[in-house]
Amino acid sequence: MCKNSLKVALILLFAILNVCKCYTPIVIWHGIGDTCCNNTITGHLQKLLQAYLPGSHVISLQIGSTKEEDLINSYNTHPDKQIRMACHIIQSDPLLANGYNGIGFSQGSQLMRGLAQRCGKPKMKNLITMAGQHQGVYGVPECNATAIPACDAMRKLINNVIYLKALQEELVPATYWHNPLNTNKYIKRSTYLADINNERNINEAYIENLQALDNFVMVRHGADEVVQPTESSWFGFYKDGQSSEIETLPESELYKSDRLGLKQMDKKGKLHFLLNDWKHAAFEWNWFRENIVDTFLK
Ligand SMILES: *[C@@H]1O[C@H](CO)[C@@H](O)[C@H](O)[C@H]1NC(C)=O
Ligand SMILES: *[C@@H]1O[C@H](CO)[C@@H](O)[C@H](O)[C@H]1NC(C)=O
Repeated sequence: MCKNSLKVALILLFAILNVCKCYTPIVIWHGIGDTCCNNTITGHLQKLLQAYLPGSHVISLQIGSTKEEDLINSYNTHPDKQIRMACHIIQSDPLLANGYNGIGFSQGSQLMRGLAQRCGKPKMKNLITMAGQHQGVYGVPECNATAIPACDAMRKLINNVIYLKALQEELVPATYWHNPLNTNKYIKRSTYLADINNERNINEAYIENLQALDNFVMVRHGADEVVQPTESSWFGFYKDGQSSEIETLPESELYKSDRLGLKQMDKKGKLHFLLNDWKHAAFEWNWFRENIVDTFLK
């Protein structure tokens, strides 16, 4: 009797292990003004992935102990602290001990990349970023500064205050505001982006941790009305000293001098630049399933 139930238990255990070892776990990081779960893009995605990859372990990061805190933290808890919190969450989860794939949405893209660079264990295998701001933003959401002069005037005004210490400490988007008209000031004063992009000094750990990725997939949303310039999702940005002409990642000094190791990654075929026709906060499962899940996460 007892022997039999032990047998059954063992069979069940092996069945579970068999299902669970098929897929690398997935960690999702939501954007600003959003929360981890329920009726949000990341909440839906978590459920879609769990259904599509049976037995997979998928978590959507909640930064803070409640959903309300998670929402507020997305606006005003410094990325350094958010990344420490996220690192603690993933290191405390035994199911992530053998590594995971990271998916970031919008602001969550550069936070997820920061997590990869600063929190080397457990190892992130594939980094997927959706409409991220890897070179920051220069512009107000939904105020097209290329088309509307008032929007350009507005971003120039913001330049005057955005690098104030108080804002750099308390307002998350300020930490990745990238003023191309005064690059030195950005490099000196941006408390997050300039650091993770190795603009001030070269942090070798950042380079090593990025090299450890299997793939870094950057998805740019073609109709993005929030990220200015949208090329930032591909690590492109305005050329130094002006705000209309764009330079791509391979044309940039960051790439040529390889301060962050991206050129090395590119040579190894680890960088992927994908384009869809979505607006910033759009999400279509069929596209995502085919181009991301089937291609990189299975
Ligand atoms: C949100 O989702 C969590 C778990 O995913 C669940 O426990 C909770 O009841 C849900 N809340 C609402 C309001 O649906
Ligand atoms: C912003 O304006 C420029 C110039 O008119 C245009 O090419 C671009 O598509 C516009 N961006 C959006 C998201 O509408």
